[in-house]
This record gives sequence, C-alpha cells and structure tokens, in this order.
Amino acid sequence: MNIRRNTSLLNFNTFHLDMKADAVAVFQSVEELKTLLAEYKNSPILPLGEGSNILFTRDYGGLVLLSGMNRARALTETREDVLIEADAGLKMDSLIAQTVDMGLGGLENLSYIPGTVGAAAVQNVGAYGAEAKDVIHSVKALDRQTLDVVDIPAADCCYAYRYSRFKDEWKDRFIITSVVFRLRIGAVPDVSYKGLTEELSRLGVVSPSLSDVRRAVISLRQQKLPEVAQYGSAGSFFKNPIVSAETFAKIQSSYSDVPFYAMDGGYKIPAAWLIDRSGCKGLAVGGARVWDRQPLVIVNTGNATAEDIMTLAATVQHRVKQQFDIDLTPEVQYV
Ligand code: EPU
Repeated sequence: MNIRRNTSLLNFNTFHLDMKADAVAVFQSVEELKTLLAEYKNSPILPLGEGSNILFTRDYGGLVLLSGMNRARALTETREDVLIEADAGLKMDSLIAQTVDMGLGGLENLSYIPGTVGAAAVQNVGAYGAEAKDVIHSVKALDRQTLDVVDIPAADCCYAYRYSRFKDEWKDRFIITSVVFRLRIGAVPDVSYKGLTEELSRLGVVSPSLSDVRRAVISLRQQKLPEVAQYGSAGSFFKNPIVSAETFAKIQSSYSDVPFYAMDGGYKIPAAWLIDRSGCKGLAVGGARVWDRQPLVIVNTGNATAEDIMTLAATVQHRVKQQFDIDLTPEVQYV
C-alpha cells in the first residue's frame, strides 16, 4: 500500500490543476482498502479514477483513494455472452482493447474514453450511441458501513444519462471494487450514430468488425477532442440538455437547423450546438478556453486556475441561458 501525505494532485486530474490533498493512497487489495478506511475513519474520502471528470476547486482536506487493482477475468460463458469482471482500477480503454481482441461486443463504441472501470460505472459513461449501463451486469462495492463487499445488480443502480445512485445517495456509502460486464459473442456492432456511420464510410469500411468500430471511434475522438497530454480537459464539460416539446418547438421556430434526438419525455439538444450558436467558440478566461473543434469541452491551455475554468463555465451558461432560455448543467463534478 502506498500513501503520500500532503501531496500534489497535479497528476491525478486531467485538467492538470495543481491542488493538494491531505493524502493520496493506492490500494492493491480489498484488505488494504479496509485498512485505509479504518485509518481514515474520520476524514472525508474521495475515491478517484483517472480524475478525468473532476474539477478540483480547492485543496482536498481528506484522503484521495485510488485502486491499484487492474485485472479482468472471465466468470461464466453461455453460447451468446460472457460475463467479464474487471477491477475498478483498470483503465476502461485497456479493458476495451482486450474485449475487442477477444471478439466480445458491447464496449467498442466507448473506446478511448479516459478513466477507469470504477468511474465508468459511477457515471455511466457514454459515446456514439452506447452507454456503460447497456452492458453492466452488476457492480461489486465495499460497503463502508459494514466493510463487506456486496454485489449490486445494475437494476438497483438507477442508471440514466451520465447518472447512477453512486453519484448522490450512495456517494459516501460504497467504494466500487470491480464491475461485471455482460458482453456478447459474435455481436453485430451498433454503428447507427450519425458521426460513426460517416467515419466508417470515410475509412472505406462496409460491414464493420468490432476492431473497425474501435478504430473509427478512436479516430473520431482524436479529431474532435483535445489530447489530455497536450491540453488539460475533462471531456464534455456540460450534459446535453433534455427539453420539453414546448421549449423545443419554440427553438425550432427560430432555428430550423437545430439538431435533436427525440426521447421519452422530451428532446435532447446537443449542448455543443447551443454553445456554438451562442457565440462561445474560442471564448477564454485566463488560461481556460472553449475548445474550437468541440465547444462542449473546456481546456486548460497551460496556466488556467480553477477560478478561470469556473468563470468561463458560468459565462457559457449565462450566454446559453440568454439566447435559448436553457440551463446547462455541468457534467464535470466540482470538488
Ligand atoms: N456541434 C456544433 N458545433 C460544433 C461541434 C458540434 O454545433 O462545433 C453539434 C453538432 O450538431 C453535432 C452535435 O453537436 O452533431 C453533437 O456532437 P458530438 O457528436 O461530438 O456529440 P456531443 O453530443 O457533443 C456526446 C458526449 C461525448 C461523446 C459524444 C460522442 C455528452 C455530454 N457528451 O457529445 O462524451 O464522446 O457524444 O458520442 O453526452 C464526455 O462525456 O466527456 C464526452 C466527450
């Protein structure tokens, strides 16, 4: 077990902000996790993956907890599917590289998303028409009240768009230790998301294999999203809002080209389009900037402070509100 006290979080958040934590610990087993929890019983605890969806607004007065467990194993197999259990500390993209190689379908559209398996199960990551919840079978987590590892069926996690119970009511109760995915043998990939269909035809692929889909998704993400090594960011800063039929009709009467996805209970409008149309592309505050190629992303161009990022985000929200009367909600978690 590795504990660093009064240490910088610079390498633990993809915005590259130089905040500090009282302690950062990496556990290599569930037993080590239990020992840490006993030692830090009276401190705030923040389980963290790769810190790719988080904005540290100040130093963290508690323990930042990282899983050093990063294996995956097959549990059971039927003719159609395989249950794969992956440790919370495994990088999602390493898992996806492995499952695509094994010919197991279901995760390929989520290729190249930063972050760990545990984080993916907390926030139900999604891209190109797929969400983690579509293939999560169950989640194993340490209950901080009893120190037992419990097996939570996906249905109990209340998954929704970028949401699970781990984000609010279960936040201080469970620490995810592994996630069980149900992946399909010989599955035909879902490439119906418009941008993905286009990218596959640009690459000249006619009937895509899992690895073709992975390649196309990686190519798309590399074109649109900043490379974290170069510009700090946390991917999409805001969620795509879902508005009522009435609000949508009002917007469409003024902007006939508004993109949308009809869904139960309303219309999802790409926040990137709202931000773009509010004239926010290239907007900057200090070292924080709205990313030109995908204005849903805020980047740290080098010397941004948390205040720069928060002020820029608030400016974007204000402009979108003024122009469209829509409230954008951050996807990024403020700590
Ligand atoms: N758009 C513009 N101007 C731009 C760029 C995009 O108007 O400069 C509009 C276009 O209409 C485009 C639309 O935005 O069709 C949607 O863009 P994109 O397909 O890139 O997807 P998104 O809805 O902006 C979501 C996720 C991403 C995920 C992509 C791809 C959220 C909050 N974001 O973005 O997830 O990669 O779909 O599926 O749901 C993340 O969560 O960190 C993330 C990057």
